[in-house]
Amino acid sequence: MGGIVGCFARDGCFERLFSALNRLEYRGYDSAGIALLSGEGAFSVRKKKGGVAAIAGEPLAGSVGIGHTRWATHGAPSDVNAHPHLCGKFALVHNGVVENDAALRAELAAAGERFLSETDSELIVHLIARAYAGDFFAAVSAACARIEGSYAVAVLCADHPDTIVCARRGSPLVAGAGGGALYVCSDIPALCGSAAYICPAEEGEFVVIRAGEIGFFRADGSPVPGKVFTRVRGAARPHAVGAKTHMEAEIAEVPAALAGTLASLKEADLSACRAPFRAARRVLAVGCGTAYHAALSFCGLLAAEGVPSLCRPASEAAALAAGEGDVLVAVSQSGETADTLAAARAARARGAFLLAVTNVEQSSLASLAQAALFLRAGPEVAVAATKSYNCQLLCLYFLAARLLAARSTAPAWEQSLAALPALARRAFDSFSAVSALAAAWQDARGMYFLGRGQDAVTAREGALKVKEIAYIFAEGLPAGELKHGPLALVEEGFPVALICTSRALIRKCATAAAEVSARGGRVALFSQYGEALAIPAAFRIRLPAAPEPLMPALAVIPLPHLACRLALLRGHDPDRPRNLAKSVTVE
Ligand code: AGP
Repeated sequence: MGGIVGCFARDGCFERLFSALNRLEYRGYDSAGIALLSGEGAFSVRKKKGGVAAIAGEPLAGSVGIGHTRWATHGAPSDVNAHPHLCGKFALVHNGVVENDAALRAELAAAGERFLSETDSELIVHLIARAYAGDFFAAVSAACARIEGSYAVAVLCADHPDTIVCARRGSPLVAGAGGGALYVCSDIPALCGSAAYICPAEEGEFVVIRAGEIGFFRADGSPVPGKVFTRVRGAARPHAVGAKTHMEAEIAEVPAALAGTLASLKEADLSACRAPFRAARRVLAVGCGTAYHAALSFCGLLAAEGVPSLCRPASEAAALAAGEGDVLVAVSQSGETADTLAAARAARARGAFLLAVTNVEQSSLASLAQAALFLRAGPEVAVAATKSYNCQLLCLYFLAARLLAARSTAPAWEQSLAALPALARRAFDSFSAVSALAAAWQDARGMYFLGRGQDAVTAREGALKVKEIAYIFAEGLPAGELKHGPLALVEEGFPVALICTSRALIRKCATAAAEVSARGGRVALFSQYGEALAIPAAFRIRLPAAPEPLMPALAVIPLPHLACRLALLRGHDPDRPRNLAKSVTVE
């Protein structure tokens, strides 16, 4: 998995590919590679383990080329496992997973093929080379027909030095044009700043760039009619500014991002949702990772208002059996997460009404949905989701309010949504205390995040951040669960973050804090209530006050800052944590 890009440009082809790979790197940075093809049909290839910077240097010659950033699925990160993969007259980059790789490898080896890498992707370029009898497109189409699993591929052929043949099934692919170049790419934000116009390829479609023309085709080579290029919307991904990491910058952007979301919600057209909302048998929500936590928070809010709702991680969505009469809310910052797309497609196929909440307006998820709310949080580059979470919650609060209004009456707290950007700004007041907490906890080997009710979801999100960027084991759990087992791990100095934003639950949170302190654990209390001072704690983080149903969007703000400080103190890169990618486009 990772990101692919292809480019046809009479000048600066290498530089354009390199620039696009820099903006694709959030999808995977185990290794990177570029191949260009000269007019005489000679390949120039540079591929290396490590980030895109590892392949910087003297531009390679050629006006047609392909590039790749890798998140390893089959085969460790290494130079030889980096894409592009070559075989005979062909070079290929691939995003996806070949699920029948073992059978194909055995078949090809028996036919005398020899492989240089451990990757599943290399099998595809061997299939193409063996299918080739002069027709480049037909060879790629025949090879794709043999693949079980997902792919977005871009292929070069030495016999056709002005052509790139591309195909997609299950992994995203978009065509672009502008600035004297033609592109194919895994996603639109990576083309922002290069292409002026884009057109997504649909499932099963092929894209062919040939001699300055770009076209869409079916597997049999027949042209796909009616493809329309639209102007790119969205800003180019920024590069880190100064000493700040992307993650620190994106945490600082939370208030402005919330303001952007409020503006987006003012333009939101939910007219198509009114009837489904009113008639909905169930309101269901899915997402992955942080987006799953936002979905959980949404369902908790609806349940508190008496609306039947269920939530599952997108990879477990089958358990929901979403179908006719259900509303399914799919939450995804990138709009390209394979598990979420699979859940959304399955629900739509069974007649559910699909609503997307995403930060990328021209994403695959937005295209699938019958209605969408856009975060308009601006590009989020750091792998750890930060501002997108706050904005997802704001979108979901708005959606919950509209849903409640469609079924009965709008909730009183809806009026307070407009105050969230200013309240978020006040959450930064706690950051020096949080930095001191990070310093005290930097050598921790594990920690708990506790909360009750909605705070239990915030606890999960805090734990996820610490795991994914500080590499400290952390668990987020309901505070009431502590005494049923997890308390066994609490010993002298064990760190416990306790989130308490419900006045009614202060006493129960005090009980959990006492259980921890009695065993030498160190409690850090996150609350907006002065009364919570009665809770025994070694550290106190003051939160800004808002109506309690909206507090998850504010209570979470110090937690990515805590995780980021811990990561920096422990010498890790918060923007590109090991083993992870920003958008996981494989299931
Ligand atoms: C969160 O910090 C992670 N980056 C990860 O869990 C992420 O939220 C998840 O992969 C879902 O991504 P999406 O919102 O783009 O679908």
